[in-house]
Order: sequence, then C-alpha cells, then structure tokens
Amino acid sequence: MSDFWSYWIIFFTLLVLFGSCWLLIANRKTDVRGDLAEGEVPKTGHVYDGIEEYDNPLPAWWFWKFIATAIFSLIYLLLYPGLGNYPGLLGWTSTNQLEERVASANAKLDGQYSAYAQRTIDDLAGDPSALRMGRRLFNNNCSICHGVGGTGANGFPNLADADWLYGSTPEAIKHSIAFGRQGAMPAWGSILGEPGVGDMGEHLLSLSGADHNAEQAARGATQYGLFCSSCHTPAGTGMQALGAPNLSDSIWLYQQQNLTLAENIRHSIRSGRNGNMPAHYEKLRPEKIHLLTAYVYSLSQNQQ
Ligand code: HEC
Ligand code: HEC
Repeated sequence: MSDFWSYWIIFFTLLVLFGSCWLLIANRKTDVRGDLAEGEVPKTGHVYDGIEEYDNPLPAWWFWKFIATAIFSLIYLLLYPGLGNYPGLLGWTSTNQLEERVASANAKLDGQYSAYAQRTIDDLAGDPSALRMGRRLFNNNCSICHGVGGTGANGFPNLADADWLYGSTPEAIKHSIAFGRQGAMPAWGSILGEPGVGDMGEHLLSLSGADHNAEQAARGATQYGLFCSSCHTPAGTGMQALGAPNLSDSIWLYQQQNLTLAENIRHSIRSGRNGNMPAHYEKLRPEKIHLLTAYVYSLSQNQQ
C-alpha cells in the first residue's frame, strides 16, 4: 500500500473514531428536566401521528460502554496493525502467528516421531497408535498412486497382498519408499514379431494356470528360455533383486480395465513397462519413512 493510501486510511479511521466520540459528548444531556414539574415527562416536541418523542438522557451505562469501546479501539490500533501501514507496537502479523503455531505443532510431533524412530518395524507394526500415524502419512503421500489402504491400481502395485516386486522385508520396503524403484522391462515387439508376442502371451497364461492355446504356448516356451528366464527365472517366479514380477501367479501389475488379461500381457511383452516409484527421502523425514515402512509392512503381515 502506498503512503498516500496508508495516511488516507489512518485519517478516516481516526476521524470516525474521534468524531463519533465528539458527537456523543457534545450532545450529551444529563439534565433534561430543567424546571419541569414533578410527574411531567421531558419531550422533544416532535409528534408523529399523535405519538410524542420523549427526551430522556442516554443511560449512563450505555454512554460509558461506548467510551470504553472507543478507548479499547485506540489501544488495539496502537498494539496491532490496523492503521494503514502502521505495524503496531507488538509487531504481530498473521504470517508470524501461523509460523509460531506450525513450529509448536511440529515440536509436539517431533517428540512423537523420534520416540517411534527408536523402535523396530516389527514392534511398530503391532502398535495401533503408530499404525494410525502411518496410515495418515500413507493417505497423504501414497494413496494417490497406491490407493487408500494400499490396494493398488493398474501399474501401481497392491501393497496389501503377499506378492512383492522388490521384497516384503522391512529393509526392502524402506528402500522402496526412501530411494524409489524403477521397473525396467524391455520391449520385445521388434525381436519377437507380433506372432511371437502372441505365442509368448499364451505361454505366460499357461504359467499362471489360465486358459491358453497349448500349441502357441509351446512355441512361446522356447523363446521364453531364450529371452525372459534371465530376469523372470525359468519357472517364471520372478526376481526381486530386479523387480521382475512373478509371472506364474494370478496377480498382474498391469491390468488396464478395457483390455482382456491376454491383451494386457501382450502389451507388456510388445512395448515393455517402466513403472516408476518416486524416491521420498528428500520429501519425508527419516522418522516418517520409518512409520510408513511399519504401516506398509503391517498391511502385508495381515495377509500372511
Ligand atoms: C507417483 C506414484 C507413486 C507414489 C506417490 C508412490 N508410489 Fe510406491 N510405487 C509406485 C509404482 C509405479 C511402483 C512400482 C514400481 C515398479 O513398477 O517397479 C511402486 C512401488 C512401491 C513399493 C514396492 C512394492 C513391491 O511390490 O515391492 C512400495 C513398498 C511402495 N511403492 C510404497 C510407497 C509408499 C509408502 C508411498 C508413499 C510414501 C509411495 N509408494 C508413493 C508409484 C508410486
Ligand atoms: C531385464 C530383465 C527382464 C527381462 C529380460 C524381461 N523382463 Fe519382463 N519384466 C521385467 C521387469 C523389471 C518388469 C516389471 C516392470 C515394471 O515394474 O514396470 C517386467 C514385467 C513384465 C510383465 C508384466 C507383469 C505384470 O504383472 O503385469 C510381463 C508380462 C513380462 N515382464 C513378460 C516378459 C517376457 C515375456 C519376457 C521375455 C520376452 C520378459 N518379460 C523379459 C524385467 C524383465
């Protein structure tokens, strides 16, 4: 605000404040009875439709309350910002009030977090109050991808089942959260050709025990040994060190709703997949990652 408008506001604020006090005091009457006789009522002489206006003095309590309000306003405007750019004697601002409250809330939380940070994941996973905090952190930071409750979605792994890309130990989970994970499944379309992709798809369906074309699956199996078993293992059970999923169970990470299972699998083979779990160590403090680990760990424990 420019100085001009600041003074403008100060001028009119004080004018209204003092002006109304002046108006009140200048018109104050304590003795309106004058030389009226006993029993007579003082009147202003105004008559409206036969109704006369009395001329009683303002009640003293009302008068003094008004004066007190005016004095309060003056003191308030002296201490707090309110008059143009004048900052007030106390130096209060809404920003520093917010900062103080955030700081005191954080100090309280810090105490709680550091108490949890001393304890093992196993221990925390059995502590309802730690899990409540973990769930809150999860809903704020993770549910946008993994769903509320960690149940996952197309391309975002379900964290509440017993199937893990990178491992279910507290160490593996904490590593996933802190440093992120990059799934790297190469595209095989140009190497296998479209018929080869189809054969391979049938082979994977057979691995997972789903309906499949046996002839195609047999052709796919040969190629599988050549191109896929190094990461997914010969039996298709997956390799957690690489984040290569188990292909022999009925859980699929990529399952776009409008495609059939076979189409989704062929898509993975043809074009590859690159799931990206962002790292959180810069965004969340170690104590929070510790609690999140306990929460995610507890989700899977309940499944086993
Ligand atoms: C931007 C989306 C996104 C967010 C946000 C996200 N994740 Fe993930 N997360 C993923 C994806 C995608 C993967 C799978 C990576 C892959 O395909 O290799 C994953 C993998 C994981 C894994 C490994 C799962 C396994 O099977 O081994 C864990 C654990 C995990 N996330 C926990 C979390 C937690 C806890 C948070 C919140 C702090 C979080 N994620 C936030 C997308 C996300
Ligand atoms: C270099 C290691 C590697 C090789 C070789 C590889 N994969 Fe993968 N594959 C992965 C990884 C890692 C993922 C997980 C990708 C992700 O998390 O986004 C994956 C994912 C998949 C998926 C998706 C699984 C799901 O749950 O949705 C399928 C299907 C698949 N691979 C099939 C194959 C086939 C078939 C071959 C051989 C032609 C093959 N992969 C070769 C590493 C590999």
